[in-house]
Amino acid sequence: MIAVTTIEEVRQYVASWKKQGYTIGLVPTMGYLHEGHASLVDKAVEMCDKVVVSDFVNPTQFGPGEDLETYPRDFEMDCKLLEEHGADLVFHPEVDEMYLEDAATYVEILNDMPKQLCGKTRPIHFRGVCTVVSKLFNIVTPDKAFFGMKDAQQLSIICKMVRDMSYGIEIVGCPIIREDDGLAKSSRNTYLSPEERKAALVLSKAVKLGEGMARNGEKSCENILKAQVQLIEKEPLAKIDYVSAVDFNTLKQSQSVEEGTLFAMAVYIGKTRLIDNFLYKEGE
Ligand code: PAF
Repeated sequence: MIAVTTIEEVRQYVASWKKQGYTIGLVPTMGYLHEGHASLVDKAVEMCDKVVVSDFVNPTQFGPGEDLETYPRDFEMDCKLLEEHGADLVFHPEVDEMYLEDAATYVEILNDMPKQLCGKTRPIHFRGVCTVVSKLFNIVTPDKAFFGMKDAQQLSIICKMVRDMSYGIEIVGCPIIREDDGLAKSSRNTYLSPEERKAALVLSKAVKLGEGMARNGEKSCENILKAQVQLIEKEPLAKIDYVSAVDFNTLKQSQSVEEGTLFAMAVYIGKTRLIDNFLYKEGE
């Protein structure tokens, strides 16, 4: 696997691959990779000839007081995982390679989508995500880009950005990968103490409860959300940020369970904010 730190090097490798007729897959990450990321790389290897992974903790998507400085980093471990999963190139830039000192341009969706769900407490987050992903699209010019369904709002917003900006890149959403006991894999799980790690299971339990109700024919989002909230509130270490039902494509609130209804939650376990969700699909 090739490891590079400059935009110019990425462009050179990608240009030579395109000349040879290869298709390019991009997996954007912030590093500290786990099996969730590995599943994105696997999917990209399956669907594309060459796979580029970006490994960059993007400062513009962190708000004041968030965990930018403490966000876990281990580039050596990341390279090992990427090599094992068949990535061709990892792009690991410094902040000043991605953002010029006088950078003043952002990519931002101006409807309500970035203000819903996580956007209520993270008002600049999706502007940072759209800006960096858009830069990565311009640098790598991939045919396909791969994102995890765990960050469902991010996936929905990126699909919207790609449609609005005519990127001509296929966005592939990949399923949530969970630990054996159900906890959704996340780089932030490392923040949890052993006691909090146990308490964090309340998220996946609430997801499972809601999913079961929906599959058994419950059509009222309110009833499902109520049951999820009741279950989460039984856990003393959990504090709900939001538990919501929205349409996946528009992120507008849903009243009744339909194809594409997204049940999403963010819950603090101690100081760590975790997210989880399920997407309702008919016949699954
Ligand atoms: O999902 C993430 O890890 C990040 O938000 C992304 C898409 C890599 C942008 O920094």
